[in-house]
Amino acid sequence: MNNLASFSAPKITVVGTGYLGATHAISMAVLGFDVLGFDVDHHKIAQLRTGKVPFFEPGLPEKLEEALASGRLHFTTNMDKVAGFGDVHFVCVGTPQSADSTAANLSYVDAAFSELAARITRKALLVGKSTVPIGTAARLTQMVQDISPLGPELELAWNPEFLREGFAVQDTLHPDRLVFGVASEWAEAMLRRTFLPLLDEGIPLIVADLATAELVKVAANSFLATKISFINAMAEVCECTSADVSLLAQALSLDSRIGGRFLKPGLGFGGGCLPKDIRAFKHRAEELGVGQAVRFLGEVDSINNRRRVRTVDLIRELAGGDLTGVRVAALGAAFKPNSDDVRDAPALDVARLLYMEGAVVTVYDPEANANAHRLYPDLNYVGSLAEAADQADVVALLTEWEEFRQADPNSLGARVRHRRILDGRHALDPDRYTSKGWEYRALGRPYQPAVRVRQNVEKPATQLPL
Ligand code: UGA
Repeated sequence: MNNLASFSAPKITVVGTGYLGATHAISMAVLGFDVLGFDVDHHKIAQLRTGKVPFFEPGLPEKLEEALASGRLHFTTNMDKVAGFGDVHFVCVGTPQSADSTAANLSYVDAAFSELAARITRKALLVGKSTVPIGTAARLTQMVQDISPLGPELELAWNPEFLREGFAVQDTLHPDRLVFGVASEWAEAMLRRTFLPLLDEGIPLIVADLATAELVKVAANSFLATKISFINAMAEVCECTSADVSLLAQALSLDSRIGGRFLKPGLGFGGGCLPKDIRAFKHRAEELGVGQAVRFLGEVDSINNRRRVRTVDLIRELAGGDLTGVRVAALGAAFKPNSDDVRDAPALDVARLLYMEGAVVTVYDPEANANAHRLYPDLNYVGSLAEAADQADVVALLTEWEEFRQADPNSLGARVRHRRILDGRHALDPDRYTSKGWEYRALGRPYQPAVRVRQNVEKPATQLPL
């Protein structure tokens, strides 16, 4: 590799300031680079300029404040400024599911790359971070070099991102690994210079071709989704026997080859990434003629969706067989705790299904009420756990916020009409509840656990790390 000392610190731009882009722009400024963030959304840019993160992400507001105070971070809605500013341009726009198929909608990615290519007049590197179907980077390389007055001087690389919402700062500043998809030594050297602070810290780096870099991202998300659906498929088996999926997950997790992460049974995965990424991957594989290789991802998706329906079944059972007029306290709306993201959120989907069956659903989420209300205005939303529980016939824990884990079964019990709880995330200790007169149900667990946790075994699956 070229001597990196000959490369001065590149000026960085970040196109698209959603979860990924905002975190990346802020983090690169914190690491010492001059950064210009861009978005077409004027409101979002106005918020970021004044130090307000437009979404809930623990730790990010403090980092934004630090970055703005350093004078190294600026935001704009002017693409000409972006093109003139940067040596390395990161594209972090969304790739949502298409409206009419399971394919990824690449219109935002295409627009970002072509807008940059039309304006950049000096040698620069365009770096895609968005999750895209395999082959996109090669197509975009051709496209930008056709558009750009620089021709092949304008290079393209892919640098997939693995950050989790709720841990975005940690995952960006201290990722498990970096992946560079490059087509030239110069592109690799530019990326090495850009990520020098992380490489100096010893973060492992994989340098690959463009297609492999694209594939790493979708393969990682597919693996994680498959692991979750595997344990949830086992929960289905448990449900027609007397077996307990919590104990099963605990026993499996103690095998170091399997491990406990992403093996937590319950309501399954949601969010803006895992569901749409496995669908887009399957779609792309079919286009490439290798659909058979990832056909199982369709099953992974189906298992995941069945958990939502089964959760409603259990709530109906708890309510005595009919949901009409039953008051359900829905605890949680976000797709996971420490997030206000309700995209494809299992919790909200369950609330919607309950409502459609005639239940009176009251939703409380510590951070996601506003976003949930925009999506499903017909549900009732309240500002506290206590209000949600008031006169409830069934309490349904759907997103495992710490506040719900820590709730006191006695005080909660004093507010409800019936002490019945559905633990959709295996987040509660059943004994704490049953000893206070609660009926407790959880996906994949018998009403009375068949096997009790023994003293010399650590806490069960409710404690598995995510
Ligand atoms: C996911 C990946 O974990 C990130 O590595 C990736 O960068 C990101 O997608 C992306 O593509 O941008 P995220 O969507 O933030 O991150 O959420 P996860 O922490 O992966 O959780 C996904 C869902 O799985 C949540 O609904 C969670 O409740 C559920 N889950 C997770 C389970 O049901 N069981 C588990 O054991 C773990």
